[in-house]
Amino acid sequence: MAAPKTTKWAIEPHTKAKHEVLMRYLLAWFPILGQSAFPYIRYIDAFAGPGRYSDGEDGSPIIAIKTAMKYRHLIKGRLSFLFLEKRQDRADMLRRVVEEIKIPSHFDVKVVDGTFDEEIANFVDKQAGMVPIFAFIDPFGWTDIPFSSIRRILTSPHCEVLVNFMYEGINRFISLPEQADSFDELFGTENWREINKLSDPNERKQEFHNLYMHQLQSSAYAKYVRSFEMKNIRNSTEYYLFYATNSLLGLKKMKEAMWRVDPSGDFTFSDATNQNQLVLFEKGPRSDILRAQIIDQFHGQEATVQEIEDFVIEKTAFRETHYKKVLKEIEHAYLARLEVINPPVTRRKGTYRDPSMRLRFAPK
Ligand SMILES: C[S@@+](CC[C@H](N)C(=O)[O-])C[C@H]1O[C@@H](n2cnc3c(N)ncnc32)[C@H](O)[C@@H]1O
Repeated sequence: MAAPKTTKWAIEPHTKAKHEVLMRYLLAWFPILGQSAFPYIRYIDAFAGPGRYSDGEDGSPIIAIKTAMKYRHLIKGRLSFLFLEKRQDRADMLRRVVEEIKIPSHFDVKVVDGTFDEEIANFVDKQAGMVPIFAFIDPFGWTDIPFSSIRRILTSPHCEVLVNFMYEGINRFISLPEQADSFDELFGTENWREINKLSDPNERKQEFHNLYMHQLQSSAYAKYVRSFEMKNIRNSTEYYLFYATNSLLGLKKMKEAMWRVDPSGDFTFSDATNQNQLVLFEKGPRSDILRAQIIDQFHGQEATVQEIEDFVIEKTAFRETHYKKVLKEIEHAYLARLEVINPPVTRRKGTYRDPSMRLRFAPK
């Protein structure tokens, strides 16, 4: 969709899905950080919008405030909301919408008329390491999200980002020579230029995706990066959401949020981190995919239950709640491919409560 010119605009189905992901993740982030030892935590919406859609739906800043309000009693220190919005009419409207809410005294809300790249240093660098930050970066297109600004956030300790990477627009404009500089900024490297020579559209998409992911990992030093692909009703990729963090707990909670997004709608939503194996978020996880991944990783080897859990959380689209059922299926199969080496005497077959229990997987 072309970027709207009016102050407000109509919400689209894929925006609702994005909001659901955000809200579900924040249901975890606010209480966890709010009860931590940090006296101050900060939520940034770097492309905030007017706070309300044309039919009255809440925009992302209001969703964040309302989610935090649910946990106001659990948030011990101060919670600061920073909303950046380039257009003054939208920033003004957002201020009016915020004023309708009775903000708790330990929250503060600041709406800044300004741009992400110009303002972000004022709110990240000065408190680096002292204030955990979650930044939601949700532009209309690809301009104005220089990689240097994303890196600035991620290299501050306890800070994480959820970036909306608008692939549809990127793919449409990336071949225009006059836009080349803006794509250098977006990726933080010129390496996209080689990828742009590829003719196969799927290969290009995969490689652009992989480059951005690589940049988050190796140039912004994010320990964990996962990406989620939103496809529209025509089955074409509208956007990727890249989540980058250094927190294992954050990673677990983001995956939990993704698996809870209602899959019924005019879109499909997948974990796209491994471009060769997209995992669709459905009502139930596909245990055949997880089984294949576990066997691929551990065949012919021994591993503890904890090591298998770590692998599932860090390297697959699946959750810590998914893999025990799969281990049970592997152990119960007619040709069992898994043997327990040191079971506690009271263990029942197909249970994996002890994280130090060792399992041996048959060779492939
Ligand atoms: C996709 S909309 C945001 C929607 C909002 N996050 C939501 O989900 O309700 C992007 C917004 O960013 C604003 N914007 C554009 N460039 C910007 C920049 N460089 N810095 C901050 N805001 C910008 C636009 O005016 C627009 O309101």
